[in-house]
Amino acid sequence: MKKIAVLGYGVVGSGVVELFYRNQKKIEANTGTKLEIGYILDLREFPDDSYQDRVVHDIQVILDDPEVGYVAESMGGVNPAFDFVRRCLEAGKSVATSNKQLVAEKGDILLQTAKAHHVNFFFEASVGGAIPIIRPLHTCLAANDISSIAGILNGTTNFILEKMFCDNMRFANALALAQKLGYAEKDPSADVDGGDACRKICILSSLVFGKHVYPDQVYTKGLRNVTLEDVQLAQRLGGAVKLIGAVKRLDDGRILPTVMPMIVMEDSLLSHVNGVFNAVMVWGDGVDKTMFYGRGAGKLPTASAVLGDLIDAVKQTDTDLSQSWEPAEADADFVAPIDAFSAPRCYRTSPCGSGVFARIAAETGVELQNAAEDGCMISCCDQKTAEAFKQKLGQEGVTILSRIPVLVD
Ligand code: HSE
Repeated sequence: MKKIAVLGYGVVGSGVVELFYRNQKKIEANTGTKLEIGYILDLREFPDDSYQDRVVHDIQVILDDPEVGYVAESMGGVNPAFDFVRRCLEAGKSVATSNKQLVAEKGDILLQTAKAHHVNFFFEASVGGAIPIIRPLHTCLAANDISSIAGILNGTTNFILEKMFCDNMRFANALALAQKLGYAEKDPSADVDGGDACRKICILSSLVFGKHVYPDQVYTKGLRNVTLEDVQLAQRLGGAVKLIGAVKRLDDGRILPTVMPMIVMEDSLLSHVNGVFNAVMVWGDGVDKTMFYGRGAGKLPTASAVLGDLIDAVKQTDTDLSQSWEPAEADADFVAPIDAFSAPRCYRTSPCGSGVFARIAAETGVELQNAAEDGCMISCCDQKTAEAFKQKLGQEGVTILSRIPVLVD
């Protein structure tokens, strides 16, 4: 018999315990191992909980028990999670985490620690909740040269944007509704300012391109400046605004990870991802394009991914080396600055008529792809050309109210 320890008995931790006991027989049959939840580490007591007898307050109890082979970390944050996880790995216990901040900030160190001690540090639940994305990237898609990824990585902002798109709600009202329904926190900044999606694109970028990408290396722009008028213009031009986390390998070998509101045209599957769902599109030279879709958060969806990792950890006899990356220090130029970004753009302007847009597009050397009286889309161009188009519009007395890139997929 082997014991599992759960660190943090909040929404995800309690989901891990619930789903484990619901499907214990199936999990044991799958792994060929008798398993039990041995400990639940939390600062709090849970007097009315069925598993109160497993609750402990000191990590040392878990570290000292040789029967604990597997640890589910769902405490959130870097401290003390980093210290606890590192000590568990050093003690020869594999860890599965849902903690995206921990992986995005300390993943390289924890992967090295796991390798040194012949155990695993798994984090399927850290990106896209229930969606299988981490393991497919380094197993099923391992034969591909993956060139880019783009996805809806945050359910709360996707819910807000859907309310703006479908129900003409203003951002503040849609956010208040998301808070009322429990999707957004009282302080919603991690979601609406893009920090949560940023951590997730760091993890995907690190895994696919092989070097650690830190959150402060990612150009991150959230939703706060997206207006109802922007969403409505996108809709009239045949698209929807989505918060897109993306990473692309550039021609010079550098990568460009970004989080920003983008317009997704209605012929893209991503434009149909609604509510709190997430989706990740991956481009590889063998598969062409593939998409992963599902619930990006929630108690049992996230627990499903954590337990999937633990089941894999039970079956592994050593560190799974394909799920790994190097520290970044060796290559400071690995991540390109936002100046290297190119994409089609949508401009929302004061009313002026499509003739003006067509003339200025021709003068700037871009194609006018679509136009309305109060805005237009131009073909893919670099930052300098996009700026020149904007300046020429200004010289014609047209006021630029917003500019949003368009995702090409
Ligand atoms: N707050 C996140 C979201 C869930 O709305 O997608 C966990 O990352």
